[in-house]
Amino acid sequence: METKLLIYPIVKLGNPVLETEAADVTEFDTPELHKLIEDMFESMYAAKGVGLAAPQIGISRKIAVIDISVGENPDDKLVIINPKIIHKEGKQSGEEGCLSIPGFREQVSRAKRTIVQAQDVNGELFEKTSEDLLARAFQHEIDHLHGKLYIKHISALKRDLIKRKVRKLAKAGEWA
Ligand code: NI
Repeated sequence: METKLLIYPIVKLGNPVLETEAADVTEFDTPELHKLIEDMFESMYAAKGVGLAAPQIGISRKIAVIDISVGENPDDKLVIINPKIIHKEGKQSGEEGCLSIPGFREQVSRAKRTIVQAQDVNGELFEKTSEDLLARAFQHEIDHLHGKLYIKHISALKRDLIKRKVRKLAKAGEWA
C-alpha cells in the first residue's frame, strides 16, 4: 500500500470553505481518516504552524490537529474530531496569526483556560484541559471548524484593513 505523506496547500482568506460550518465526522478508524490526519500533521509542520483545521486544506469536516511544540515533542501531538468547548474561564490577550492569513498578526482576546471534549481517530470521546497557548490554539482551531476566522475577534476597522490588503495582494497575484 502507498503510504507516502501528502503536503496539502493551505487555503487562504477569501476561499468560502474557510467561512463554512464544517460537517461532523461520522466514520472513525478508517484508513482514509488515519491517512488524512497524518497528512494534516505533515502539512502543518511544512507550514510551520501550531494548529491546522481540515477546512484550511479545503476539506470541510470537523477535524483539527494541534502541536504547540511544532514537532519537537511527540506528546504534544493532538487530534480533535467533532470538538466542543465545554468549559471556559479567565481571559488572555496575545498575538494570533493563521496559516490561512499569512503575513498578518493581531492581538486577540481569548479564554485563559478551556476544557475541550472531542473524539479521537477511533471515535472515543475524551476531555482535555488546557491553558495559555494550548487553550488559545484549541479556541482558534475550533473556531475554524465553525467557519470563523480569528479576524472575527478583532475590530471591524482592523478586519477591513486586512481584507483590503489581501484584495490588493490577490490582484497582484500574490495571494494564491
Ligand atoms: Ni488558523
